[in-house]
Amino acid sequence: MPLCHQLTKHSYMSVRSGSHMIDWDSQPRNHKIYPHFYPRYKLESLPSLAFLELAGGITAKKEFPNTVYYLRSVPSAGGLFPFELYLQIRADYGIPKGLYHFEPHSASLVLLREIGREGVEPYFGSNASQEGIIFLISAPYFRSSWKYRDRAIRYILLDSGHQLGALQAALACENMACEIVWDFDKIALAKDFGFGEEELFLAAVFSSKIDESKERIPLKSPLPYVSACDYYIPNEFVKKAYNDTVHYHAKPTRDLPFFQNTPKEILESAIIKRRSIRGFSQKSISAEEFSFIMQDITLFALKHNIDIFYTAHLIDDRARGLYKNEELISEGDFRSKSRYLALEQNLGGQSAATFYITSNEVECYQKANMIAGLIGHLFYLRSEILGVGCSGIGAYYDDEAKTFLQTQNNILYLVAVGR
Ligand SMILES: Cc1cc2nc3c(=O)[nH]c(=O)nc-3n(C[C@H](O)[C@H](O)[C@H](O)COP(=O)(O)O)c2cc1C
Repeated sequence: MPLCHQLTKHSYMSVRSGSHMIDWDSQPRNHKIYPHFYPRYKLESLPSLAFLELAGGITAKKEFPNTVYYLRSVPSAGGLFPFELYLQIRADYGIPKGLYHFEPHSASLVLLREIGREGVEPYFGSNASQEGIIFLISAPYFRSSWKYRDRAIRYILLDSGHQLGALQAALACENMACEIVWDFDKIALAKDFGFGEEELFLAAVFSSKIDESKERIPLKSPLPYVSACDYYIPNEFVKKAYNDTVHYHAKPTRDLPFFQNTPKEILESAIIKRRSIRGFSQKSISAEEFSFIMQDITLFALKHNIDIFYTAHLIDDRARGLYKNEELISEGDFRSKSRYLALEQNLGGQSAATFYITSNEVECYQKANMIAGLIGHLFYLRSEILGVGCSGIGAYYDDEAKTFLQTQNNILYLVAVGR
C-alpha cells in the first residue's frame, strides 16, 4: 500500500484527537485568475466550445449573508475545487491555436500562448502533432490541504477523477472523442507551465487526431508564473506523496462508452442539475433504477483493478446485504454499520445503497484514485437522470471499513445513492 494512503487513514481515535481548527477567513481562492491583460474569449461567442461550461462551469450559486458560494458541474470535497483545466487547441474554433486556461467564473478561455511548432505533444513521448484539443488537469493542492491537511493527497485525486468524468460526459454530448492519458512527463510540463511547486499535473484527455507529418517541439520558454490561489502554504507531505506516486506506466483509457446511448438533452440537463444530496428521505429505489446506475461499471472497474462493494439498504426486490462486484457475500441490514463507517454521516446509512470503491493498486495509485472519482461521477450523473440523489463521501474509517468488507484492498471512496 502506498505510504501516503497508510498515513492518511481516519480512525475513530484520529478524528477525535485532531486539533486542527479551520479559519474560514483564510480560505485560499478556489479558482485561478490570470492577469487582466491576457486575451479572453467568452464561451457564449464560441458555440462549438460551449460544451466547456458542461465540463466544469458554474451551475449554481448559494448565497449567505457575507458570502456567495459558486458550485460547478464537478463536485468537490468540501467545495474547495482543487483542480484547473488547461487546453491545447490545434483546430479551427475561431480563436488562435494556442494554450488556454478555462476560467469557470467568467465562462471564458484565457489565451496563455499562441502555438505553431511548439506544443505539449513531446511531453507525451511523441513529436507527432495532435490536431484537435488536448485537455490537461492540474491540482493546485493547497486549496485542499488548507482544510484537509495531509489527506488532501486523496481529495485532489478523487476530485480530478470527477473532473475527468465531467469532461467525458461533456464530450459525449458533442460526440467528441475522449481518451484519458495517464502517462506523460508531468514534472517537465508543470515546470514549463510556470507552476512552481503549487500546481501538480495529474491527467490529460485527448480529443484529437494524430498527424505524423507535422513535428512538434517542447515549449521554447516557460509560461510566466501566476499563483493558482491568492496565497500559498506548502504541504511537504502532499508534495512528497505526489512525487512518490507520479511516475507510473498505464495505457490510455479509451473504453468510456458511458453516455453514448443517452439522448443529448437528457445528459445535458443532468450535468447542469447535478448536485450532492444533503439528506435522504429513506424511500427505496427500484431494481431497474439500481441496474441503470450500475450498468457497465463493475466490468469497467475490474479492468482497472478496482473492486466495488456496496451495502444494499433500500432496493426493491433485492436482498439487503453486502455485495462485492454484484455478488451477495453477506446478507443483513447494514444501514447502521455503513452510517458509522462513513464517519457517522447519515448519508452513509440512510441511502438506498452505499458503494465502497476499493483497490490494491500500488504502482498506479494516482490512476486508481482518479478512476474511483470518475466512477463516482458516473453514479452522480446516472442518479440525476433518474431523479435519484447521490453524494460522494470522502471521509470514512479506513481500517474498520476494510475489516467489514473483509478485503486487503485500500478503500478509496464511498458514494451513497438513494431518495
Ligand atoms: C471526493 C469527494 C468527497 C466528498 N465527501 C463528502 C463527505 O464526506 N460528506 C458530504 O456530506 N459530502 C461530501 N462530498 C460532497 C461535497 O460536499 C459537494 O460536492 C460540494 O459541497 C459541492 O456541492 P455539489 O456537489 O452539490 O455541487 C464529497 C464530494 C467529493 C467529490
